[in-house]
Amino acid sequence: MLDALKDELLSQVNAASDLAALEEVRVTALGKKGRITGFMKELGGLSPDERRERGQQLNALKDEIAAAIDARKADLARAHLEARLKAERIDVTLPVRPETEGRIHPISQTIDEMVAIFAEMGFSVAEGPDVEDDFHNFTALNFPPGHPARDMHDTFYLPDAGDKKMLLRTHTSPVQVRTMLNKKPPIRVIAPGRTYRSDYDMTHTPMFHQIEGLVIDEATNMGHLKGCLVEFCRAFFDVDDLPLRFRPSFFPFTEPSAEVDIGCSRKGGELKLGNYGDWLEILGCGMVHPNVLEACGIDSTKYQGFAFGMGIERVAMLKYGIPDLRTFFEADLRWLKHYGFVPLDVPSMAQGLTR
Ligand code: PHE
Repeated sequence: MLDALKDELLSQVNAASDLAALEEVRVTALGKKGRITGFMKELGGLSPDERRERGQQLNALKDEIAAAIDARKADLARAHLEARLKAERIDVTLPVRPETEGRIHPISQTIDEMVAIFAEMGFSVAEGPDVEDDFHNFTALNFPPGHPARDMHDTFYLPDAGDKKMLLRTHTSPVQVRTMLNKKPPIRVIAPGRTYRSDYDMTHTPMFHQIEGLVIDEATNMGHLKGCLVEFCRAFFDVDDLPLRFRPSFFPFTEPSAEVDIGCSRKGGELKLGNYGDWLEILGCGMVHPNVLEACGIDSTKYQGFAFGMGIERVAMLKYGIPDLRTFFEADLRWLKHYGFVPLDVPSMAQGLTR
């Protein structure tokens, strides 16, 4: 009789397809009004010998059913977990997100790369307005009124408005002035941004980009300037032994001033960067002129430093083999698809500038 009950209950346990069904089986068998419990209650009416024997049988049955329920519970839990793991499985070798359609413009990419390199050296990014006044663009930078260097800048002047002559900045150097007027040394900033000159041909567009660097403290000298630019150029162009040549030059706002050439080869009409004996000019630099420091409220007997400025399109063309400057600003999607960069590949010194 108990054997039949046992078989019945065990088959119910094994047929329970989820935890709720299993609980129902447990209540039917072992609950307060369960079937085994029912038999237990009847023990009182039996003789002591019968009671002992029957009691042992019932206890054994009870234990067996309870164990079967536990085992089934563990099986169900394992099956549930397995189903969940299967359903939530992800293929970590798939791309992070679907390939994006948009591209980062080579100018933005180049600026990001430059910022990554200079940030590693401890520079922060400074910004200034595109529309400047004569003081920040020229006078404070030691271009006296009527100085011939002013004419070389092909300046776009804005229609007269009041007593201040406004213009589109011809270089990023006014950001130097704004930084020095607003911050006490030590200063270590770079300032990438748009600049404007009235010129248009294969190598000039009326709007272009420059990046300015400025370091001011008590002891910075030309050796630091050299080291900084050598380090930058080798990292940016990814040529470990790229030679740099510093040639004496003139800027009103630096003294001494230099232009920097990087080593290249033009053999067979193809431009290659490296130690090949030929040279290509890429930037202007020098020690900040004491007149500039004083115009910006910095004591030139205590502080000194260097500045540099470079055309972003020019180095982008060099690095990425883009032949015509004007194409940068034609907003041709085919050009952008060809020369642009994937937005998720953010340049960094640790992960690489371009991937
Ligand atoms: N502002 C200069 C130019 O546009 C570049 C430069 C910047 C030179 C800083 C020296 C120091 O030609």
